[in-house]
Amino acid sequence: MARHLTNMETLARLRAALLGWYERNRRDLPWRRTRDPYAIWVSEVMLQQTRVAAVVEKYEAFLARFPTVSALAMAPEQEVLAQWSGLGYYRRARMLHKAAQVVAATTRGQMPTTAEELRALPGIGGYTAAAIASIAHKEPVAVVDGNVERVLCRIAGWDANGAHRRKLEELAARLVDELRPGDFNQAMMELGAIICTPRNPQCLVCPVSEDCKTRGEHKTVARPRMVSREVGCALCVRQAASGSDVEIFLEQRPSTVSVMPGLWELPSLREVPDEDVRITVRHAIMNVNYVVRVCDVREEDLAKVTVRGGEGQWIPLRVVVGMALTGLARKVLKRIIAGSVS
Ligand code: ADE
Repeated sequence: MARHLTNMETLARLRAALLGWYERNRRDLPWRRTRDPYAIWVSEVMLQQTRVAAVVEKYEAFLARFPTVSALAMAPEQEVLAQWSGLGYYRRARMLHKAAQVVAATTRGQMPTTAEELRALPGIGGYTAAAIASIAHKEPVAVVDGNVERVLCRIAGWDANGAHRRKLEELAARLVDELRPGDFNQAMMELGAIICTPRNPQCLVCPVSEDCKTRGEHKTVARPRMVSREVGCALCVRQAASGSDVEIFLEQRPSTVSVMPGLWELPSLREVPDEDVRITVRHAIMNVNYVVRVCDVREEDLAKVTVRGGEGQWIPLRVVVGMALTGLARKVLKRIIAGSVS
């Protein structure tokens, strides 16, 4: 334990400074206006690995569609994935859905209240359990996510690469405010997100700099190197045999693949086209910047020019938006539908 953090006065000062700063600077986010454990659960799962701005866009629509654990449990998986579209990391949505089904089946929709019980649900780890229990029920348990780890390492003066998880959890547990654990945990995450950032932390305006060991002398964290990749997608539409519907050919990724299983996407072209490109879309996934060239392909040419990525199907254009599309497919189709598919 860092010596200065064994002193009760220091700990009390740190907590008070952090909570005071949080009160003055907290962002007004929709999940901060509720104590409903289900809504908080949804927000915390969405916030893992996803930017706050992207979550704000999706959170309210998701809760409007699935307002309770039971509503979520009863929904078909494809509909849950469709509502998740754009947030990425679809495994999180599948696990949330599965856990909601466990809650609906075992406790008739009543969520467990303690962190320990919450952790027993599929997909709920220590972080999510602590966040729900502390924010919704004021259980004094500490949240330790990536941002909090960094804040703790800097306050304690530990090398981030050498700090062991157990040590970090012990320190977080010592530090958490017993009376306002939810606010304290959110304040730590918020501090990591907007002040104690990986690069260029704002130590001059940090509320806890007085008790921080590394103040301004952080180690710079290397940004992951972005790489570019060009790919081609086929836009294949036809008039439905019956009626006036326009249909589009989409493929469903196999359920067995690890990346985005079960989601729908445009077929991939064998070769990246350099002419007759209808639109070019840029899309980043992790550290890859994709440049996606989308070409019109006639039905009779489709098999010849594409590689089969999954089970293909003709889908009426009007139902496509409600489907579980990959983020890229949604982006492409939005652009094309906005420009009206002919
Ligand atoms: N990151 C994940 N959950 C958060 C929360 N509740 N407040 C601030 N940042 C977060």
